[in-house]
Amino acid sequence: MKDVNLGVLLIDTEFKLIDISDMACRLLGLIRERVLHLPVDEIFASVPPEHRFVERTVLDGVVVRNHAVSWTHNQERYELLLDSNVLRDQSGRIVGAYIMFKDVTNLRSLEQQVQRSDRLAMIGQIAAGTAHEIRNPLTSIKGFLQVLRKTFQDQGMDKESGYTNVMLTEINRINELVNELLLLSKPKNVSFEEVDISQVLRDILPIINNEAILHGVVVHYEASYPMPKVIADRELLKQVFLNIGKNGIEAMVDGGRLTITERVDREEKRVNIDIHDTGPGIPLFVIDKIFDPFFTTKPEGTGLGLSVCQRIIHDIGGSIRVSTKGFGTTFTICIPYP
Ligand SMILES: Nc1ncnc2c1ncn2[C@@H]1O[C@H](COP(=O)(O)OP(=O)(O)OP(=O)(O)O)[C@@H](O)[C@H]1O
Ligand SMILES: [Mg+2]
Repeated sequence: MKDVNLGVLLIDTEFKLIDISDMACRLLGLIRERVLHLPVDEIFASVPPEHRFVERTVLDGVVVRNHAVSWTHNQERYELLLDSNVLRDQSGRIVGAYIMFKDVTNLRSLEQQVQRSDRLAMIGQIAAGTAHEIRNPLTSIKGFLQVLRKTFQDQGMDKESGYTNVMLTEINRINELVNELLLLSKPKNVSFEEVDISQVLRDILPIINNEAILHGVVVHYEASYPMPKVIADRELLKQVFLNIGKNGIEAMVDGGRLTITERVDREEKRVNIDIHDTGPGIPLFVIDKIFDPFFTTKPEGTGLGLSVCQRIIHDIGGSIRVSTKGFGTTFTICIPYP
């Protein structure tokens, strides 16, 4: 009972607790000496009936096998797999019951992750199909508009040619959106090569700076030298840093500071890029969703930024972590190097 890594509760015919394993005490928040020989109803008195998993019916011979239940203790949620059955003496008389459970919290969250990525894959496929179908008509609309613009220009119709310019710009915006959607499903023409992340960051720093100035934000870049080269697609990496940098800048409505820091974790063989903003942070009820496609809190946002980043970084074996406190948010992009 002491060493077993199982939750075990033994109950007598009067529904009193006869014995309990250490693991069960830990998980249920009970002290063994205090609860032994007490009626089970009394022990779990503070737990609402629908959350009690030790029920009197166990004594009536109701057999439970692999029953999944959730349990919350100390604000931690546990997923348990429960077995229970009666105990009989040699003559077959019921003398009590046992309840046994395994803690499968990790397994369950793995399962949920798999379901989630299944869903993402499906959304990706739909997005790719739709995006493709949008691109084709767009190409011909764009072509004919260019012809029209030429005719308007030739005939000196400045106002009309101005309209076509606006239309062409808007069509380009649709095109960009569609390209992003296509990236979600399967990146096209990715070319993996040795990439110097510092160089990538230096390349995009002017773009980030431009955006920052518009929002009254100051950008700091803390390089680390030497940075090991990673295997990735240079253009896609730029997209990741741009997206996350832009998010940070957009979060700081009254100005602030965006800090980009390079770190090397030689033990884990990873390069870590921190992108920190001094914005309001991300509320807890939002943080689970920010990587979902189409989740956005911005009136003009598409909500694709982070899901595209996630896909790109996952594809090279890396990960994106978020930590958010009252005063700002840090996105950490971890990329393994060979
Ligand atoms: N640094 C940040 N600070 C606060 N909230 C953030 C930050 N980064 C992301 N978010 C939240 O995550 C949401 C999703 O971000 P994502 O980049 O996927 O989409 P978006 O920025 O809303 O739209 P898009 O990137 O397509 O313009 C944002 O709408 C915002 O609510
Ligand atoms: Mg974004």
